[in-house]
Amino acid sequence: MSRFSNVIQRKGTRSVKWDYAEHLYQDKEILPMWVADMDFQAPQEVIDSLKQRVEHGIFGYTMPDEEIKRSIIDWIAKRHQWNIESDWITYSPGVIPSLHMIVQALTEEQDNILIQTPVYPPFYSVIKEHQRNVVKNSLIYSEGMYSIDFEDFENQIVKNNVKMFILCNPHNPVGRVWKEEELKKMGEICVKHNVIIASDEIHADLILDEHKHIPVASVSNQLNNQTVTCYSPTKTFNLAGLQASYIVTSDKEKRESIKKNFDKQGMHMLNTLGLTAMENAYIHGEEWLEELLETIQSNRDFAAEQFRKHTDLIKAVPLEGTYLLWLDCRSLNLSQAELKSFMQKQAKVGLNDGVSFGEEGKGFMRMNLAAPQEIIENGVQRIVDAVRQKTTS
Ligand SMILES: Cc1ncc(COP(=O)(O)O)c(C=O)c1O
Repeated sequence: MSRFSNVIQRKGTRSVKWDYAEHLYQDKEILPMWVADMDFQAPQEVIDSLKQRVEHGIFGYTMPDEEIKRSIIDWIAKRHQWNIESDWITYSPGVIPSLHMIVQALTEEQDNILIQTPVYPPFYSVIKEHQRNVVKNSLIYSEGMYSIDFEDFENQIVKNNVKMFILCNPHNPVGRVWKEEELKKMGEICVKHNVIIASDEIHADLILDEHKHIPVASVSNQLNNQTVTCYSPTKTFNLAGLQASYIVTSDKEKRESIKKNFDKQGMHMLNTLGLTAMENAYIHGEEWLEELLETIQSNRDFAAEQFRKHTDLIKAVPLEGTYLLWLDCRSLNLSQAELKSFMQKQAKVGLNDGVSFGEEGKGFMRMNLAAPQEIIENGVQRIVDAVRQKTTS
């Protein structure tokens, strides 16, 4: 039996996905398929390294050294063919804290910041909470595929004198892994209009089929200078509760400005166990990751096939990267409130509301596929049965 088919009880572990779901959906029977973490154990080598560290029993201030940096540099070079330097790395407890710091460090109040919607909800708050303004470049959704409206991308930048673009690559929730041509085209526009790119690449390792993740900063030297990139092993290896991530910035001025902002908040250290897990995941986790990707692919194919076979009212948008399946439920002809209630009360599955990603998400829901197949089968079956009941009643 594969380590990815083992169903492990998560209730009672203070899990946001499982324990908070009961509070959120007010229903004990809800199957949680929402927040982006996985129902899988981390690689055994990571668990063992944490046990060993815990056994030591002293958890004093901990210093990330060059060996930890080496594990990061080697991982990025091997998986993404990008050679980064040790000095370019700044640690952060998470990608969201990083984005808050980046916005504060590299833009001014009232500046305009562009995002490609629908997009991960905190992208809105990291802009608005610092009195900056959201400028939207809505993605095009046509014939079941998402693409970029480049003309609108440049128009929005020029019209609004945009200072920063927060890129999501791979894109949550639409599941696109942006191609080199797409990144190049956006990058050239950003360089031309001097727009800083804050690239959230937290899903970089979760790439399916033959798709390839390209760090936008690796596309050209100019783009490297123009970009700050956020990475983390926490999505890849299911370590989100350990809170360890980092920002890669080649440009010294931008890097120092970001560091200064961390200092201002008194944030200059990661937690001991987060650092241990990060290093060991990068050194030992590759085989585990390959097996994980096969599991996600198989869950994606299963879910898409079941929807195709049993209902033409729900379509799975093709998933190139991430483990988050974007479901087009518009043919159900329900208002968003009705759609949410349908998934919750009839199907009894806990999905993310499409509109939380922006108004473009109306008629959509997001399903987390990072669970043993048994759970995915259960969730998909619940939805298919509920649709059947709705259409026959
Ligand atoms: C695109 C994206 N960025 C950031 C995060 C969260 O990052 P962190 O937990 O490191 O703050 C997520 C989590 O789902 C995400 O999907």
